[in-house]
Amino acid sequence: MRKVITYGTYDFLHYGHIRLLERAKALGDYLIVGVTADDFDKVRGKINVQQTLVERIEAVKATGLADKIIVEEYEGQKIDDIKRYGVDVFTVGSDWVGKFDYLKEYCEVVYLERTEGISSSEIRAQKRALSMGIVGDDAISMNKFQKEDIYVNGIEIIGICTNNIEKMSDKIKNLSIITDDYKTLLDKVDSVYIYSKPEEHYEQIKMALNQGKHVLCESPITMNKKQCKELFDLAEEKGCILMEAIRTAYATAYSRLLLLIKSGRIGNVVSVDATCTSLRNNEVTTSLVNWGPLALLPIYQILGCNYKSKRYITHFKSEGNDDFTKIDFLYPNATASIKVAEGVKAEGELVIAGTKGYIYVPAPWWKTDYFEVRYENQTLNRRYFYQLDGEGIRYELVAFVRSITEGKNAKYIDDKVTLAICKTMEDFENHVNLSEI
Ligand code: CTP
Repeated sequence: MRKVITYGTYDFLHYGHIRLLERAKALGDYLIVGVTADDFDKVRGKINVQQTLVERIEAVKATGLADKIIVEEYEGQKIDDIKRYGVDVFTVGSDWVGKFDYLKEYCEVVYLERTEGISSSEIRAQKRALSMGIVGDDAISMNKFQKEDIYVNGIEIIGICTNNIEKMSDKIKNLSIITDDYKTLLDKVDSVYIYSKPEEHYEQIKMALNQGKHVLCESPITMNKKQCKELFDLAEEKGCILMEAIRTAYATAYSRLLLLIKSGRIGNVVSVDATCTSLRNNEVTTSLVNWGPLALLPIYQILGCNYKSKRYITHFKSEGNDDFTKIDFLYPNATASIKVAEGVKAEGELVIAGTKGYIYVPAPWWKTDYFEVRYENQTLNRRYFYQLDGEGIRYELVAFVRSITEGKNAKYIDDKVTLAICKTMEDFENHVNLSEI
């Protein structure tokens, strides 16, 4: 019996796939189809595959062409599979010519001509052509964000509202809408990404939602809980998505870390300590506004938002400008702390202590691609690494698009967490339980 093997993602299975599978089958008597696992796709840079692994497997099964379906999970697996199943022919489409010649050592390699005019990427792009406008003056952040849209099907950044166009990249300068008038931008887009000053967020979000536009907004969404709640209610009323932008939440390593904790790997969590600092020479330093939401994220996501009390210790550089803030939280069965600074430097790590072991995320933990689960018995220690591309922005955009187009809530940050972050900002501004040093 001549065994043939082929691999693919098979997102929104189309006739290009079917033609390939038919010809692959005709190369032998028995066809094995490898369907790529979601994680493996991410490692390969295909981050916005829309269908789940199960849906994709079902679609391949429904063609009736595969005698066996396997899941491709790791780099180098093809060699293992060829040996394990005694494969005679490996085949893929001509878009891969030369790429798999290294398999010739193990079996015959055949590149079949790719069907012109169709691909999963095109189907994904046609399904959701959502336009986005970006709002903000910070050139570094805007340039970084704008660069990411090419990785995400279904959303296209088409304009900017800024007072700082000279400092923006050439790509931004070439967008079709350039304006310093927010309303002009809003009229022409389906969604906005807001990275303006936090005190401007409320009005800007409200305007957008009232016009039926979806909003992705840098954190903190507002400086008080009531306003934030009002905006979430408005979003619901208008059928729009309002999503807080904290890219760390969308990093694979960080979200896996949360799952490990929830599944009890370190026992009961007793403390969460997060530090985020930088040294900036700005006159205006607002450590808590700039770093706070990020540092608060693991605390509220792991321990919840129902703390018993919290206490701020702050150093103000000048009126209202904190260059150092520490917050201590007391929970019924746990404690937590954040340390944020824009004028003091400390190790930017995240440590989560539990009754069985602890999780250590080295600095800078907010760009997490790696963490360790450590135990008293060191032989049980485990290290985890997950590739992080684009600092998580592209994953955040994928989640935003998915929330909008599929109507299902793909947000990784619960609204309760967003509200708790706003409340933390509000109490700080009102000096509730705040000691100055
Ligand atoms: N394929 C093909 N003709 C097409 C599209 C895909 O022959 N028009 C082949 C590929 O060469 C590969 C297999 O089908 O051998 C699975 O491809 P996959 O990457 O899943 O599909 P694409 O449509 O190429 O996906 P994408 O647009 O995400 O790259």
